[in-house]
Amino acid sequence: MENTKLSVLGLKAYYFTTKGIIKAVDGVNFTINYKESIGIAGESACGKSSLGAAILRAMHPSGRIVEGDIILDGSNIVKITDDEFNKKIRWKKIAMVFQGAMNALDPVYTVGNQMKEILEEHHFDGNVEKKIYDSLRQVELNQVVARKYPHELSGGMKQRLVIAMALLLKPDIVIADEPTTALDALVQAQIINLLKRLKTKEGMTIILITHDLSIISEIADKIGIMYAGQLVEVRSKKEIYSNPKHPYTQALISAIPKLNSNKQLSFIKGNPPDILNLPTGCRFYSRCPHAMDICKEDPPEIKVESGYVRCWLYK
Ligand SMILES: Nc1ncnc2c1ncn2[C@@H]1O[C@H](COP(=O)(O)OP(=O)(O)OP(=O)(O)O)[C@@H](O)[C@H]1O
Ligand code: SF4
Ligand SMILES: [Mg+2]
Repeated sequence: MENTKLSVLGLKAYYFTTKGIIKAVDGVNFTINYKESIGIAGESACGKSSLGAAILRAMHPSGRIVEGDIILDGSNIVKITDDEFNKKIRWKKIAMVFQGAMNALDPVYTVGNQMKEILEEHHFDGNVEKKIYDSLRQVELNQVVARKYPHELSGGMKQRLVIAMALLLKPDIVIADEPTTALDALVQAQIINLLKRLKTKEGMTIILITHDLSIISEIADKIGIMYAGQLVEVRSKKEIYSNPKHPYTQALISAIPKLNSNKQLSFIKGNPPDILNLPTGCRFYSRCPHAMDICKEDPPEIKVESGYVRCWLYK
């Protein structure tokens, strides 16, 4: 469709390990329109990082896309060669702030040198120093940071820096994987504000990956709830928060602590299925309070207001 920026269609990305095949991303569908941002949320190990990495062809070497299409601005980027992908897409169209990247900065090089290296790798032919300063400014870091070493920066500064690095080649989509994890609440809020500004002022599309549904609201126009390698509900932010449909989404929403509320945090009983031994039918079956006989069959994606839900209750 004309207004669609990115469509991820039937994406499957698996890891091939000595223990077996890990179906980390197992039939994921979502689309984002121009100027829209999406939040992807779900419990640990549901496949969020693998989904982001698969889109950017940056999975661990044991992982790869086995099926599906990724349509970016009308072209299928699954079909192009690695060489073409590296030249045209990675960093330039889509960049990723990897989970934990702020702790993986090279301790022996200054910030400026690390940024310069990225630009040189991509044969940047403009004014390198100006580009570095501009990117630092975009994330509200002073240009003196370019001369510092990673250990001289606070956690919040390091997280801004890895975002600045992702912005160096002016991508239109930034995948931010757990960008606020391990930061204190105040710094978390600053990073979220920064991402929000990049979205609203610079028109950037953000794919925000998090296990914490409560931080998505500022940035996401729509939300995808991920469970055991699949998106079980993809709908507008408003609908997800006010009228969650999938029993898993309902459980996640009710687990968000409410300000000024004495309501007990509700936890979701049980565990996600073993990824090496996935059950047939609905993957939430063993934890679902509404499970029915038909749920032993794979639920289809059912169209509902502003998106879809993968649950037999709505058939
Ligand atoms: N390199 C790898 N080799 C094999 N399995 C992997 C690899 N990376 C991830 N996995 C497995 O794939 C599944 C999805 O992992 P992934 O890291 O994508 O989850 P996640 O939702 O990002 O979790 P978290 O919230 O903890 O970051 C998990 O079962 C994980 O153990
Ligand atoms: S398909 Fe059935 S088991 Fe799965 S979430 Fe819906 S009601 Fe629960
Ligand atoms: Mg992750």
